[in-house]
Amino acid sequence: MAQNKTMLVMNGPNLNLLGKREPGVYGSGTLADVETMCRDYAKSAGYDIDFRQSNSEGELVTWLHEADENAVGVAFNAGAYTHTSIALHDAIKGISNPVVELHISNVHAREEFRHKSIMASACIGQISGFGVRSYTLALQALIDHLK
Ligand code: DQA
Repeated sequence: MAQNKTMLVMNGPNLNLLGKREPGVYGSGTLADVETMCRDYAKSAGYDIDFRQSNSEGELVTWLHEADENAVGVAFNAGAYTHTSIALHDAIKGISNPVVELHISNVHAREEFRHKSIMASACIGQISGFGVRSYTLALQALIDHLK
């Protein structure tokens, strides 16, 4: 069987609005632009991308479970669920794939309620504040981790 070379890029709530949502914070590029950037970056390193977005916490949990079979690692922008979801923390703990938490904005330079990540301790690391480049930095971290 061919070696699995798929990385899952998961996006949580409101990230479907990228481009029109608070462009001063998140930039003017769309989620489709981010997907293209991720695919191009991964391809140059020999990986495929499974790129998804959901506004539903339960769906994100299910995708994490499935990732253990379908992917070798996960780059995850969980949006606001980062700060609230014990279910996502537990799902990340429950799988063996490495997960990198990522944020477009620098969550530590914003409102206090964004300073706490419930997921972070379950992830291999966190990338925050580099605009949409946070996605390719997260992929780079995963690729290095998988070597
Ligand atoms: C975000 C930061 C979160 O605090 C926020 O709720 C988001 C986006 C980011 O990418 O900067 O939805 O994850």
